[in-house]
Amino acid sequence: MSDMRPNDLKAYWMPFTANRQFKQAPRMVVGAEGMYYKLADGRDLMDGIAGLWCCNAGHKRPRIVEAIRKQAGELDYSPAFQMGHYKAFELANRLANLMPGDLNTVFFTNSGSESVETALKIAIAYHRARGEGHRTRLIGREKGYHGVNFGGMSVGGMPANRKMFGALVAGVDHMRHTHGIAENRFSRGQPDHGAELADDLERLCQLHDPSTIAAVIVEPLAGSAGVILPPKGYLERLRAICDRHGILLIFDEVITAYGRLGAPFAVDYFGVEPDIVATAKGLANGVIPMGAVFVQENIHDAFMSGPETMVEFFHGYTFSGNPMACAAALATLDTYEEEDLFEKGRVLGDYWADAVQSLKDCPNVIDLRNLGLIAGIELEPIAGAPTKRAFDAFLRAYEKGLLIRTTGDIIALSPPLIIEKAHIDFAFDTLRAVLREVA
Ligand SMILES: Cc1ncc(COP(=O)(O)O)c(C=O)c1O
Repeated sequence: MSDMRPNDLKAYWMPFTANRQFKQAPRMVVGAEGMYYKLADGRDLMDGIAGLWCCNAGHKRPRIVEAIRKQAGELDYSPAFQMGHYKAFELANRLANLMPGDLNTVFFTNSGSESVETALKIAIAYHRARGEGHRTRLIGREKGYHGVNFGGMSVGGMPANRKMFGALVAGVDHMRHTHGIAENRFSRGQPDHGAELADDLERLCQLHDPSTIAAVIVEPLAGSAGVILPPKGYLERLRAICDRHGILLIFDEVITAYGRLGAPFAVDYFGVEPDIVATAKGLANGVIPMGAVFVQENIHDAFMSGPETMVEFFHGYTFSGNPMACAAALATLDTYEEEDLFEKGRVLGDYWADAVQSLKDCPNVIDLRNLGLIAGIELEPIAGAPTKRAFDAFLRAYEKGLLIRTTGDIIALSPPLIIEKAHIDFAFDTLRAVLREVA
């Protein structure tokens, strides 16, 4: 593996990767267990980001490995359309019980991007099913990330992800983002200032007329744009404006679901109930691709009219709820429960927050943000070379045995929920050394 020649690396066009840089000095992983990856050069690398915010129970978890092995020998695949298998129904029920409120019907997908597309399509089709087909407009937010498919990219607000791809979906508008470090610098937990930014939705309602708007989609806590936390009261205010105007509120919980905040979902953590919730990543612990969209019962029921032999919703994927993914997800939920992993962000929350905020005196740190087991470390960009400082930090952390993620000049951490205090100490001691080196 480690002796591959550069030519061998050409065929694979890597996603969201600096391909040329990578292929000059490949970072190859050959194994993983618990909190660590095993690298091709024999070193251990501590996983500071749970894969890509998905391996919430850590790596190579015995229950999950065994469940997949068993399922492969029993029922490898069953058609997703007009046929069923027991584990898909069992999983949907378990998820519905886990999710608070009336978000009791579950549509399966294979990724966060697909969950977002599904949520947006349900929103538009729901209004149409009720005779409000004029509600077609979708509202996102600047700096939002909702995956890479056309709907999600259109409601998303990360310029680099949009600029290459033309005019995108029509009829989309964006609220202002909530990234206000001038007022909220070094906030520990949710920032105090900025709830009024939710009123930007009211402005868009006045501009477009609310009767044209189907849904608003936000990440309750934005990860990909660099860990942007919702100001206190912000999500509540969005909910109230949506209610006032008959607009559906969609939470994109692709990174926050399944324990990241010290509660099963952000819906629990923030106590705000949206109409639709998009999830993926941690659902099957990143082992097998899987997503789930939670929908309020009354929205689901609005589709259940017309002749009973008719398909009610013309949407779905070949791999929606496939047996292998369901088996992995059920074993993942068992693991989360048995090890109280949804509590972990709360139990270790103060220790984590202290560790994050202890970087305040490091060179070029202009903001530190934390919530649950998430950290955002914002660095002063090098003049004329934006993103370079953070990317250098990524490379140096990798050399020192810690995997972090960077976006722009922001470092993000989101470790597996099996993390212990000694791992937290290692991560932040390493980062302290790295930040001095990239000064
Ligand atoms: C909030 C959010 N939505 C959607 C996605 C897309 O998920 P996927 O990469 O599984 O398509 C991500 C991925 O990071 C995400 O963070």
